[in-house]
Amino acid sequence: MGGFLGFLYRQLTFKPKPLPPTISLAGNTGLITGANIGLGFEAARELASHKLSRLILAVKDTSKGETAKTTFSKESPDCDVQVWQLDYDSYESMVAFGAKVATLDRLDYVLLNAGLKQVTYTASHTGHETNVQINHIGTSLLSLLILPTLQKTAKQTGKPSRMTIVSSEGHFWTPFKERNAPNILARLDERETFGRVMQRYYTSKLLNVFWTRELASRVDRSEVIINTPNPGWCYSGLHRYQMTSLYNLVLKMLSWTSAQGGHCLVDALVLHEESHGQYLSEQKETSYAMSLRYTDCLLLTMSYIADLRTLFFPRKAKRFRRNSGARRWICWKRRYF
Ligand SMILES: NC(=O)c1ccc[n+]([C@@H]2O[C@H](COP(=O)([O-])OP(=O)(O)OC[C@H]3O[C@@H](n4cnc5c(N)ncnc54)[C@H](OP(=O)(O)O)[C@@H]3O)[C@@H](O)[C@H]2O)c1
Repeated sequence: MGGFLGFLYRQLTFKPKPLPPTISLAGNTGLITGANIGLGFEAARELASHKLSRLILAVKDTSKGETAKTTFSKESPDCDVQVWQLDYDSYESMVAFGAKVATLDRLDYVLLNAGLKQVTYTASHTGHETNVQINHIGTSLLSLLILPTLQKTAKQTGKPSRMTIVSSEGHFWTPFKERNAPNILARLDERETFGRVMQRYYTSKLLNVFWTRELASRVDRSEVIINTPNPGWCYSGLHRYQMTSLYNLVLKMLSWTSAQGGHCLVDALVLHEESHGQYLSEQKETSYAMSLRYTDCLLLTMSYIADLRTLFFPRKAKRFRRNSGARRWICWKRRYF
């Protein structure tokens, strides 16, 4: 998995399918971040068309959310569509959003889809590099804030709730040199480490995969099924900062539509009950192929989570740092083998 030729082959031969029409989501509540446009919009539209009772569009700009709501309400009039403000670039916004989610009587499906691709270095309002802040830190924090409501719902309904974190095939294609740094997040914030064009975006998506695996290992699959799909290479606003005429031409020749990408996301969110902690590509569970060996990945994940927890819970930082031995082991191994 993850090779460029394989990527081309799959883009040209695979056709993502929508959910079977027999599936009904009546009585359920779904929440999608970044639902005003692109893949999130298409995924929201598909869920609503399967009789979802309540759909929460979590969007940065509520006026764009209201425009999307008009479309969904027209197409699926029985669905209660709500627009909630959420900015992954503001901890205040995310914490307030989490508090609002906690007031819901139920929440069955969460698609953490919002993301961006910055191909030159920019710092977000929080001070972190923008790809890392939005795609990884924002997504991870939200997953923690929303998790208790999903767990509460599972207890009420007697079936697992679902959380899907959108990653990308690009997660295979980063050297992730920052992995050896004493503080990985701090190293990712340094302008000099940004790398070539897409590298930091790919790293942020690799971090989504690490996060999904770690979170899934700590959450009982009978309460919440958590997975991370690749939606394929799709024509959408994601590519806006790279849009030269050549890129646009290649994109048009090879890409799937946003609706097809949306099918992949909805497929991961609703089907695949055995996919807890798994990466999905072309609508099936797929192995994580990495340049590192499996044991290295595990240790790297542990040490990285220690860094991230230090960020979210600074008062417990000392206790969390004890995992740094794992990181030292990897540095040593990669130097000598
Ligand atoms: N398209 C592809 O080829 C592709 C491939 C692999 C993975 N993906 C992943 O699929 C997901 C959706 O991408 P897309 O192609 O649909 O891109 P898109 O059309 O650009 O949509 C991205 C969505 O994320 C929202 N967003 C961006 N920054 C945000 C922030 N700070 N707070 C809250 N929301 C924010 C955007 O809101 P605004 O419109 O207000 O900016 C928009 O709704 C992303 O996670 C992306 O990495 C896409």
